[in-house]
Amino acid sequence: MKGAGCCRVSYDMGEKLVIRGGRRLEGEVMVSGGKNAALAVVPAALLADSPSVIENLPDINDIHVLLEMMRWLGAEVSFQDNVLRVDPRPVNKCNPPYELTSRMRASYYLAPVLMGVFGHAQVPLPGGCDIGARPIDQTLKAMRTLGARADTLGGNLEVSAEELIGNDIFLDMPSVGATVNSMLTAVSASGTTCIHNAAKEPHIVDLANFLSAMGAWVKGAGTDVIRVRGGRHLHGANYTIIPDQIETGTLMIAAAATAGDVVITGAIPAHMEALSAKLLEMGVRVESEDDWIHVRSNGVFRAVNVKTQGYPGYPTDLQQPLSALLTVARGTSIVTETIFENRFRFLDELRKMGANVRVIESSAIISGVDNLVSARVNATDLRAGAAMVIAALMAEGETEIGGVEYILRGYERFDEKLRALGACVERVSSRSYAPV
Ligand code: EPZ
Repeated sequence: MKGAGCCRVSYDMGEKLVIRGGRRLEGEVMVSGGKNAALAVVPAALLADSPSVIENLPDINDIHVLLEMMRWLGAEVSFQDNVLRVDPRPVNKCNPPYELTSRMRASYYLAPVLMGVFGHAQVPLPGGCDIGARPIDQTLKAMRTLGARADTLGGNLEVSAEELIGNDIFLDMPSVGATVNSMLTAVSASGTTCIHNAAKEPHIVDLANFLSAMGAWVKGAGTDVIRVRGGRHLHGANYTIIPDQIETGTLMIAAAATAGDVVITGAIPAHMEALSAKLLEMGVRVESEDDWIHVRSNGVFRAVNVKTQGYPGYPTDLQQPLSALLTVARGTSIVTETIFENRFRFLDELRKMGANVRVIESSAIISGVDNLVSARVNATDLRAGAAMVIAALMAEGETEIGGVEYILRGYERFDEKLRALGACVERVSSRSYAPV
């Protein structure tokens, strides 16, 4: 029928997750390789004069974008069954395109690597989740300390050096990105570099281990002083990426949120201590040994206070998933985000599901409610997407989560893993209603 009232808006839903909540997660799930470890290790392979084989690489969008950049630069790259084979020898460019670099945060790790190979590089400023200003002043300071010219002109990170010379780098804060870039610069500098106030995240250690496997001399990773004796010949290496700390934590929280009983395998329990302690405080049962973590819950949680810190403190990347769980805890929780200044936007989406939360400066005050209700919500960034999945798994009814592309950036086969544990979750391809 034509005429008033019959035409519909033309819009494209975009891909989304549809989750029917209220089901317990049960069984066993293996965690994938670490996204942030892989994003630091893979660029380093371009510093070698021979091929590398890197295993346990997560098959996620961020990795595909990085590999596309490396192919664009000339590297020979093959990636299959989570194994990357990369031959850096044909690389003949040092300026990856904005269309690729703008799609992730870690693209600027290529700047120190390409400067080490060619003496200069031009990398468009990185993209990444909109969780704060995310400046790179500490990276600029570190590179300049080792003798490079480093500027952000016209939206590009432009770096060059006739010679890099080892020195003492003092980071103003334990920035993960600046620590990675300091290490990737220092291995090409003659003499010794000491990186003070370094980040201690597991993936910093992973990068140090890969560089050492390539022939570099790197000591102290995992502490706040990392020493590098640079200028050594670097060859290709065979390496296996550590398991993803944040995916492990997200699965632990999902298990607890659904009053589930889940064993997460292929994990490193020592990386999870801050979260495990917090879940135990909430009344969740957490046991672990070797490479597995067993999470059980009766679905009743005590409210707790959380303050995000650099490793080994409570990780900022698990702030959003835990905040989702705290919306149904008994009592009032205070979540203080000390790392990023804009990491509470997802709370607006949780409010649509009935969460009772308010933000005062850098803290979210979460008053537990009996239950969440299903709704149409959106992922505002990668870990916010994980938080919405946690909330949807708990809520009665069917929740639609838009912005699946955020989630796919950082979680390998996330919907498949959740379905295998008993969740009712489907990826719904984009739908559009054309005007009639
Ligand atoms: C890395 O981001 C991770 N990303 C983030 O994970 C993670 O949240 C973060 O480290 C903290 O652990 C990757 O590894 C690709 P930072 P990065 O430099 O390197 C300020 C995820 O979800 N700062 O440690 O950008 C900065 O503004 C992502 O997987 C400066 O002021 O983090 C922020 O407030 C999200 N100047 C704080 O430090 C600088 O030069 C931490 O930043 C650098 C950082």
